[in-house]
Amino acid sequence: MSDTLTDKYCVIGNPIAHSKSPQIHAAYAVATHQNISYERCLAPLDGFEATVRRLIAEGYRGANVTVPFKLEAFQLATRLLDRARAAGAVNTLVFDDGEIIGDNTDGPGLVADIVRNAGVPLAGKRILMLGAGGAARGAMLPLLLEQPRELVIANRTLATAEALARDFPDYAERIAVRGFAEVEGVFDVVINATSASLSADVPPIPPSVFCQDTLALDMMYGNKPTVFMEFAAGHGARVRDGLGMLVEQAAEAFAIWRGVRPDTADLLKSMRQ
Ligand code: ATR
Repeated sequence: MSDTLTDKYCVIGNPIAHSKSPQIHAAYAVATHQNISYERCLAPLDGFEATVRRLIAEGYRGANVTVPFKLEAFQLATRLLDRARAAGAVNTLVFDDGEIIGDNTDGPGLVADIVRNAGVPLAGKRILMLGAGGAARGAMLPLLLEQPRELVIANRTLATAEALARDFPDYAERIAVRGFAEVEGVFDVVINATSASLSADVPPIPPSVFCQDTLALDMMYGNKPTVFMEFAAGHGARVRDGLGMLVEQAAEAFAIWRGVRPDTADLLKSMRQ
């Protein structure tokens, strides 16, 4: 294959060595017969914009953006899609004829993993979201577009959850805000969007939020279940980590760039092994 025909993409972050995105996009390229390259790109902490300008000059067609640059990518974009605007952050850039188009596929990836991979439709359901930071914000609009009956945001700092809820006035009657201990009732889906798992903490919610029909999903993933997943499983819930969300947000970005949505099932299965 000629190099000049290869469309170049990458994932920009700092650190970036751990990123699984090149492996995921390489698998999608093979499966969909797309001639692309995709590599890791370490940007200096004070050099995100310069890195993007260099990539554009070198002919790159787009990039994913990860920690800590998603807010800077939002600011740098010359055009934003609605879901990126609602997320207040950008994880996917398209470089198109002088424009830097910003999108966010994290929330759509979460919804695809819940609805398609876990087989849990969200329309009419009760969803409990734990956390009100960037990860929670990115999930809000895609979750609300699925028409759940109720979306309860529970957070350690109540004011942050209230501010997040206020940013979705069109859905005010479906959104409620609670402290962890004040959450009431049983939920169809409980999403841990806090970073508590990083410090082996579990948000102190009542175990009665779970039943055997509950899907409990932690946005984090690792070699073993998170403490939140263990807690939820211990109270009867079906549990899921964030690997499916990772694979699906990548599929969504791939679809934006290439116009073809790769199948994720085989890849997810092989990554779990
Ligand atoms: P991210 O981009 O991963 O969402 P963030 O914007 O810093 O990161 O948000 C972290 C979220 O995890 C917040 O909701 C935070 O709660 P506060 O708003 O009260 O800070 C939550 N969080 C972090 N550590 C936590 C812990 N140990 N227990 C409960 N919630 C925690």
